[in-house]
Amino acid sequence: MKILIGADHAGFELKEKVRTHLEEQGFDYEDFGTYSTESCDYNDVAKRVARAVSKGDAERGILICGTGLGMSIQANKFKGVRAAHVHDVLSARLTREHNDSNILTMGGRILGAGLAIAIADAWLTTPFSEDSRHRRRVEKIDA
Ligand code: RB5
Repeated sequence: MKILIGADHAGFELKEKVRTHLEEQGFDYEDFGTYSTESCDYNDVAKRVARAVSKGDAERGILICGTGLGMSIQANKFKGVRAAHVHDVLSARLTREHNDSNILTMGGRILGAGLAIAIADAWLTTPFSEDSRHRRRVEKIDA
């Protein structure tokens, strides 16, 4: 499973902590920036990651801005992208089981690193439910 991770300046520091965790855990990831706290537009990073997930170049994306909201709104403009804005571990698990979300967005100004990493772990390791009602509903999103 290929994971793309990206952030704007407001998400940079949390992105570095999550990225280090992915590295330590041996996940196959690619860092799409940004690479400093210099101001940039979340849209540009979200578009690069969401476009790659939409095209099937990667299975998953993790996007972090100040709130996680701008990243989520932007990423969800891409066909086949189901970006979930998550601030707790239960929602991380349930959005995988029920929504088959393929992008996780979080807020660098909202979450501490410990919680963000726990959310990312739950989201990355929870499979989509085998229940056909969830498949039917996800197909309705994509239609
Ligand atoms: C940047 O100040 C901030 O607006 C951005 O990181 C994000 O929170 C937008 O949704």
